[in-house]
Amino acid sequence: MEPWWREQWGNPSSRQHRLGLTAAAAIGSAREHLAGSLGIRSEELIFTSGATEANNLALLGHARARTLSDGGAGHLISVASEHHAVLDPLLQLQEEGFQITLLAPQKDGLITVEQLEQAIQPNTQLISVMVANNEIGVVQPIRDLSAVCRNRGITMHTDAAQAYGHLPLNAEELGCELISLSAHKFNGPKGIGALVVRAGTQLQPLQWGGGQEQGLRAGTLPVPLIMGMAAAAELSMQDLEDRQARLQALRDQLWEGLKDRNPTIQLNGALQPRLAHNLNITIPELSGSRLLRALRPRLACSSGSACSRGEPSHVLRSIGRSHIEAEASLRLSLGRDTTASDIDGAIEVITTAIQTLTQR
Ligand SMILES: Cc1ncc(COP(=O)(O)O)c(C=O)c1O
Repeated sequence: MEPWWREQWGNPSSRQHRLGLTAAAAIGSAREHLAGSLGIRSEELIFTSGATEANNLALLGHARARTLSDGGAGHLISVASEHHAVLDPLLQLQEEGFQITLLAPQKDGLITVEQLEQAIQPNTQLISVMVANNEIGVVQPIRDLSAVCRNRGITMHTDAAQAYGHLPLNAEELGCELISLSAHKFNGPKGIGALVVRAGTQLQPLQWGGGQEQGLRAGTLPVPLIMGMAAAAELSMQDLEDRQARLQALRDQLWEGLKDRNPTIQLNGALQPRLAHNLNITIPELSGSRLLRALRPRLACSSGSACSRGEPSHVLRSIGRSHIEAEASLRLSLGRDTTASDIDGAIEVITTAIQTLTQR
């Protein structure tokens, strides 16, 4: 990213001088690279400020466009365990007259094709289901779910923020017309992401201005962030399989180690199919806030999402955990640099905290 902050600071929309043209060419190759990694054409990738904006653009932009083409607001389906960046735009659309159905996931965090089929109505316009859950890591059967939408005039959106860079993804195989991405979920910079808009998908912009991104997302492109996103994507694709295998073994070591030393702890979400670097556990009958306070000096972990506004996790509540259980839960994420001795350290720190708090 460095040279794009300091030396090549041209605006890619300024095509009358060399600095601008250089920036535009760099954006072109970054876009091509990202598009290629998903098996789509460059024109099908719109840069946004992250997955929150991509989700808003996908949901509000498509639903509002459908109101015009279908002659009114219809029915939209999603899942109660989605990120707030999907749930809150849907609440907004409800205010605008759309009818919303939120499916309740099974106890393992997954939803089934049968559940989706039962929820579909003649006026269903859009379905939004995330690839991988940000709290419990479970991976939804997107291919099977999108197959249900085909030939029914229903558009499929998926929030792939947690999956891109961690699982092999191909837009055609996913069968989704709209796909949201976020760079900081695969070690890229914060403040940049993208929305995949497959050719022929109706979309209204959320903002108007300089006409960038085919008029779908006006605003000067943040060149250094986009270069960082493309570089991070390249790095995460290079060792994807090896990293997944290594992190899955370490994650399983963490789970087995914690369970052996603390037999009452429970796993949240199915162990498979699940992101290799995610573990989420409930420690029954322990105060969640005291546990987090005890761990804070040694471990960076949380009981829910960074976007949860301090409430107990709605994801854990949606799979049947009580308010108290949801608070007494830990979301543990491994990173590309996590080692086996980090895992042993984490098992030790968590076990000591649990034992100290239960003895009190
Ligand atoms: C599943 C999911 N969707 C959306 C977001 C929001 O992404 P961003 O921070 O890029 O706006 C996140 C991250 O917090 C996420 O995990």
